[in-house]
Amino acid sequence: MPRKIAIVGVGLVGRGWSIVFARAGFEVALFDSNPAAVAGAPSLIRQSLDKLVTHGLIENADTVANRIQPAQTLGRALEHAEYVQESVFEDVAAKQNILTAIDANVDSATLIGSSSSGIPASAFTEHVKCRDRCLIAHPVNPPYLAPVVELIPAPWTSRQTVHSVRSLMESVAQVPVEMTREIEGFLLNRLQGVLLMEAWRLVEEGYATVEDIDRTIKYGLGLRWSFMGPFETIDLNAPGGVADYAERLGPLYHRIAASRTEHHVWSPELISEVERQRRMMLSADDLTRRMAWRDERLMSLAVHKRDQEERA
Ligand SMILES: NC(=O)c1ccc[n+]([C@@H]2O[C@H](COP(=O)([O-])OP(=O)(O)OC[C@H]3O[C@@H](n4cnc5c(N)ncnc54)[C@H](O)[C@@H]3O)[C@@H](O)[C@H]2O)c1
Repeated sequence: MPRKIAIVGVGLVGRGWSIVFARAGFEVALFDSNPAAVAGAPSLIRQSLDKLVTHGLIENADTVANRIQPAQTLGRALEHAEYVQESVFEDVAAKQNILTAIDANVDSATLIGSSSSGIPASAFTEHVKCRDRCLIAHPVNPPYLAPVVELIPAPWTSRQTVHSVRSLMESVAQVPVEMTREIEGFLLNRLQGVLLMEAWRLVEEGYATVEDIDRTIKYGLGLRWSFMGPFETIDLNAPGGVADYAERLGPLYHRIAASRTEHHVWSPELISEVERQRRMMLSADDLTRRMAWRDERLMSLAVHKRDQEERA
């Protein structure tokens, strides 16, 4: 019998997860409380699969698509599933409710990962019997192109759960990173948050345009970041490595941090200004087209990274 995964919540992220598991050979059951979301999913998933074929990232769209099947009820979706990827709205009550329902229907050995972007698992799994089998498995959108997945246990998550979900993610070509304990925003959004806070602030204070701030990442920092992180970056940016870098440039970063101790909320005026500048570069009507363009660029990058890693 093929191994089975249940996707609960079939929006943007749930659809992306279904591709991750189906392309690795799993049978995938889709369940959503909104029947239209399940009904609309196959054609949207198919569009993504066809693009993956065009880029040489999968061989056969039919084979992958046939492994993904809608389920009429949550119970049918969960039946014989070894893992559930919860991907409902980012809302504590919604997540508590769906965990209650999953708990009532799930097999005794099934593991449950939540796609939650920032709500820790302790906020919505405390009340369920299966809580030692629950953790956060936070992806990047779309998960079939950006493989990192953050694994964050609640205080009651068992070590075996973390270990097993880590192995499962590795087996489907995702790249798990583990946190030892919960913190709001996890790793990815905390790191992104620091950069975003400074970007908004530099616009607010009139130091640079939105376009030039984006270009600084696009033609600068981001080029390295697609294959190395901030610590490896600085290790290679001083002749004596990271300690040498800290000695040379540490004082600069400490002065920058000291100049930003006061927290600024993004004001409505500032948001309007950033929105005005972005809409001059991209009209609201073109956002969907540009998202598809982004995914195609990510596919080309995935091919490049795969080829580089095969050669390394
Ligand atoms: N969008 C992103 O970039 C992104 C990235 C990483 C993680 N996430 C997280 O993934 C989760 C889903 O986000 P999304 O962007 O796919 O949202 P979405 O709005 O596109 O989809 C959510 C889906 O959940 C369904 N749903 C809501 N309550 C339900 C219930 N009780 N039972 C079954 N289905 C239910 C909705 O009908 C909807 O189809 C959120 O926790 C979000 O924070 C999002």
